[in-house]
Amino acid sequence: MKRTTKLLTMTLAAVMAACTLTACGGSSKGDALTFGTNAEFPPFEYVTSNGAIGEYDGIDMAIAKQIAEDNGMTAAVENMEFDSLLVALQNGQIDAVIAGMTATDERRETVDFSTPYYTATQVMIVKEDSDITSAADMADKKICVIQGYTGEVCVQDMGYTYEAFKKGTEAVMELTNGKCDVVVIDSATAQKYVSDNEGLKIVEDPSAFESEEYAIAVQKGNTELLDKINKTIEKMLADGTINELAVKYTEEATAE
Ligand code: ARG
Repeated sequence: MKRTTKLLTMTLAAVMAACTLTACGGSSKGDALTFGTNAEFPPFEYVTSNGAIGEYDGIDMAIAKQIAEDNGMTAAVENMEFDSLLVALQNGQIDAVIAGMTATDERRETVDFSTPYYTATQVMIVKEDSDITSAADMADKKICVIQGYTGEVCVQDMGYTYEAFKKGTEAVMELTNGKCDVVVIDSATAQKYVSDNEGLKIVEDPSAFESEEYAIAVQKGNTELLDKINKTIEKMLADGTINELAVKYTEEATAE
């Protein structure tokens, strides 16, 4: 009995000491840097048995891990719906968002973005025998997008009707089942889906889809964290690490 009390007191003291060190405020749990993501986006983030951060792997997860490491912290991941990420960031539930997220002007109104680390574009995934060769050809087709992705915004701006899914894999399944004609999604992820599924191909239309830059989001005004993030990104861009990660994970990533 006495022993237990003593142990408890010691544990409490340790916890309190840890709290003083980290101020126990905000979302930083101990010395963890918490990244929000939506792990439905290979090769940037996906769930696997043995990932860079716990069960999470991909280009973004390797970058997140490096950012934490460079600052003497450990990286933690909160996996959630893509649509919830920026709200969770503003609430302080997470420290940063790394999710293959395109830095758009609209998002810049609510969050700050890091130095971009990857350039992508929207593409169209279609069946191999599809007659779609340009974005304009989607006019009378059944279009699938993923909810809240920039691809949805593009299709909306083109004035087309579409169906929105929660996950890329769901939209691609709809396509392979012949229930839709085209999926609009980011290029690297599209490539992954096409190599994982028989009978699909990618159609590009650079005149219709602008290039997009992926960046890490932090709370507006959090320059302290943003500076740390930028330092690591700039180092990883300069020494070719991000390129290497892109090659590695494009080969390895497995769509669920
Ligand atoms: N780049 C697109 C966007 O910013 C799609 C990102 C999806 N990322 C994800 N982790 N599910 O909207």
